[in-house]
Parts: sequence; structure tokens; C-alpha cells
Amino acid sequence: MSTAPAINTAPAALTPAAHDLSRLNTLGLASQAEAFVTLDDAAQLPALSDLARRADSLLVLGGGSNVVLPERVSGLVAKVAFGGVQLLQDAPDVRLVEAAGGESWHGFVEHCVDQGWDGLENLALIPGTVGAAPVQNIGAYGVEFEQRFHSLTAWDVTAARLVEMGPSDCRFSYRDSTFKHDAPGRWIIVSVRFALPRPWRPVLGYPDLQRHERLAHGVPSARDIFDAVCDIRRAKLPDPAVTGNAGSFFKNPIVTADVRDDLAERFPGLVSYAQPDGRYKLAAGWLIDQCGWKGQVLGAAGVHDRQALVLVNRGGANAADIMALAGAIQASVQARYGVMLEPEPVVV
Ligand code: EPU
Repeated sequence: MSTAPAINTAPAALTPAAHDLSRLNTLGLASQAEAFVTLDDAAQLPALSDLARRADSLLVLGGGSNVVLPERVSGLVAKVAFGGVQLLQDAPDVRLVEAAGGESWHGFVEHCVDQGWDGLENLALIPGTVGAAPVQNIGAYGVEFEQRFHSLTAWDVTAARLVEMGPSDCRFSYRDSTFKHDAPGRWIIVSVRFALPRPWRPVLGYPDLQRHERLAHGVPSARDIFDAVCDIRRAKLPDPAVTGNAGSFFKNPIVTADVRDDLAERFPGLVSYAQPDGRYKLAAGWLIDQCGWKGQVLGAAGVHDRQALVLVNRGGANAADIMALAGAIQASVQARYGVMLEPEPVVV
């Protein structure tokens, strides 16, 4: 981690105001912020640090696709909205692309595919922002964010300075990074740089991609993979603009080989994936589905009828409704399989 050059524009002011967050979280939970600011420019970051010092807490919102918000959020809420994408380097072995933290993740991936900057296409249609991607080290269809990560610039809210971070500073693991463990509100991710290896090689190992008809003939392009991933996600996952959801609500649990072998003997269809360290990742969606939860409802919260790992807001749900359903699912999976599921979104 190293100090980045200081912000070179004049500091800009920020005026907090009460704000409705219902449309700023993809679960669509009714939520009110007491004090809310939008960050459109890095020049506002010093003013944010001043405000945060005087507030009880700071909640940083990107696309709001991985949070469970309470009905009232006290303290300061900052929505990151800086935009911008640029190609920094086009070398024979790697392309270096930079995107601002407030860019829509999917919009950025689509722009890369349009420009022929291949390598992120397996991560199409993941809701949220570029700045949120490193926080939970997003991944899908055989590609994890960290495999394409080069470095990032973050604002240290407490110290009021910009820092540069490389992969080891971010301490990535499955759906996890240092940003999830540091004090909430410590970091604002200002921009992220991606290293896209050349020559490009398609990543087609994920079973859903192998089965997809778009990818069955000849060597597919990055655009073909992008389109196939969009098809698969649209078929399985609810569109947050229509049905409130936060993607996978639980992480896939990682267990020892002994635990996995014992479960596989007792439950023959068990879906598990060997990990590089000898442990196994279990498909949480399968465990939840087998407990009979797919399509079930509890009050205003429900389990998606095509992917049991996704909890949905059936209309008017609040955080307590979602967490009551999550708790009931955790208890039944624990009782049947002895495995505790861990929520993936940040529960505020
Ligand atoms: N399964 C079931 N029933 C279900 C859901 C899944 O039996 O209701 C089985 C599937 O048949 C499959 C296995 O479980 O054999 C895995 O399912 P899937 O391929 O849908 O992936 P996942 O493990 O449930 C993960 C990510 C997703 C990502 C997909 C594709 C996590 C927590 N989730 O889901 O990410 O899109 O793989 O790579 O790692 C997200 O993080 O929000 C997210 C959507």
C-alpha cells in the first residue's frame, strides 16, 4: 500500500440531507437516511472526511446490490457516483483498463466487450458498481474478480488521503477482502485498474456455459460468452428492477474433505467443488433447495422459484422480514446438514 498523489482540484463542499434509500438498494427495502450525500467528484472526498469525523458512522453505498438496510439509517450515508473509463496501456501481453468506482459494473463490462477489451465477459450482468466489485471479490461462471485485478486507488476516510493498493493489500478470498473486515466506512474505492491478459482465452469450464447452445459451435468470441452469461443469468436470477433481491443471499460454505465425504455418503446428490487447498465448497443453493425452500414465502419475503440461493422482496418487505426468512433457512440447513450458512450481503 502506498500514498497516491493528492487530489489536484479545488476541494468541493458537501451538504448532507435526509434521503429515501428505497430505490438505492436492489432488495427494495424501505429505508430512510438521516444524512445523505452523493459523491460525483473526487474533489469532494476531503469534505466527506470532515463530515464523517463529526458523524456517528459512515455507510458507503455503491449500487446497493449487496446490503440489507434497516428502516432508519442514522449517521452519514455516502453514495459513490464518480464515473469514467479509460484504456491505460495496450501492451502485447496485457491490456490495462481503469474504471471509476461509481461506474455501473455491467455497463463497464459491456463497454469493454464493445471495445474488444476482452477478459471480463464471464462477469456480465452482476448488479452493483465497479467500486463494490473488489469489496466482495465478485465472481461468476468461472472467473473471479481478483484474477483480473491489477490495483486500485482508495480514499482512506479516517486519514483523509488517497492510497494505492495492489492484490496483497486487498487480501482477496472467496467473496471476501480486507474492505469487509476494516471498520465500516473506512474506505471509498475511487478507481480500479484491471489487467486483461493477452492473448485472450475464453473461460468455458462452468457447467452452465458448457451446456449453452450459443457456445456449442466453433471457438466463441468474448461477445458470445457475454451474451450466453446474460441469457443464463436472466433465466435463473430475478431482475432487481422488477423483483427486489440481492443476488446470492448466502455464500457457498467451505468445509473440510472429511465433512464433505461424510455428507456425500449420506446425501448422494450433494453438489461440491474441490478447492485448491484440499477443502470443498458446497453449493448452498442445492442445500437450501433440498430442504424444500425453493419458491417458499415467509410474510413479505420469499425464496426465488428458480434459484434457492436468492431471497426476494415480495413487496413491502423490511430488513426484519428478510432476516427472519434467512434465519429460518439457516436453521433448517444446519439441522439437516450440520452446516451454518453465512449471509453474503452486508447486514447494516
Ligand atoms: N442448485 C440447486 N438448486 C438451486 C440452486 C442451485 O440444486 O435452487 C445447484 C445447481 O444445480 C448447481 C449448484 O447448485 O449444481 C450451483 O448452482 P449455480 O450454478 O446456480 O451457482 P451458485 O453456486 O448457486 C454461484 C455464485 C453466483 C454466480 C454463480 C455462477 C455464490 C454465493 N454465488 O452461485 O453469484 O452467479 O455461482 O457462477 O458464490 C452472487 O454472488 O450474488 C451470485 C449470483
